[in-house]
Amino acid sequence: MPLVVLGSGALFNVVNAYLNGRWLFTLSPVRPDAWLWSAPFLIGVVLFAAGFVTHVLADRELRRLRRQSGGAYVVPRGPLFRLVSCPNYFGEMIEWTGWAIATLSWPGLVFALWTAANLVPRALKHHAWYHAKFVDYPPARKAIIPFVL
Ligand SMILES: NC(=O)c1ccc[n+]([C@@H]2O[C@H](COP(=O)([O-])OP(=O)(O)OC[C@H]3O[C@@H](n4cnc5c(N)ncnc54)[C@H](OP(=O)(O)O)[C@@H]3O)[C@@H](O)[C@H]2O)c1
Repeated sequence: MPLVVLGSGALFNVVNAYLNGRWLFTLSPVRPDAWLWSAPFLIGVVLFAAGFVTHVLADRELRRLRRQSGGAYVVPRGPLFRLVSCPNYFGEMIEWTGWAIATLSWPGLVFALWTAANLVPRALKHHAWYHAKFVDYPPARKAIIPFVL
């Protein structure tokens, strides 16, 4: 991996963590305890948890495939990959969308948008590569958003 990619990833995470932490602990309005039972918080938490589970399971499946195939790339199968080529990216986008909704914050929204700006083009590229490499690649499978993209 080129060092510039490593450095950009580290820089992004430092800036992003600072903005979200700063907002949560010093800039955000003080919210009453009832906020924990409000619709945005509950919807955001459910989305975050669902995205997190999808993300982790999909990454785990890719690592398992990699070990099993002796380092070669293969067509991922199974429930998570039935609808999209990159369920790990889809899960991560859902996670940070949930975070943005649960915190109702500008840094949360920016985080969700940057994540999508990063992962959507990446998924489209992965998807095109799968189609170019595997003639029998499932034709109905989308790149990142089920039934849409
Ligand atoms: N928040 C953000 O902006 C952001 C940005 C980038 C990544 N991420 C997260 O970082 C994690 C890793 O990202 P990534 O882009 O490296 O994911 P990836 O391209 O899906 O690859 C994950 C791992 O699986 C292997 N792999 C992928 N497809 C395979 C296949 N068909 N057969 C066998 N092995 C396969 C990859 O091998 P190779 O390394 O050889 O390709 C890699 O080791 C993900 O959880 C992603 O969501 C987040």
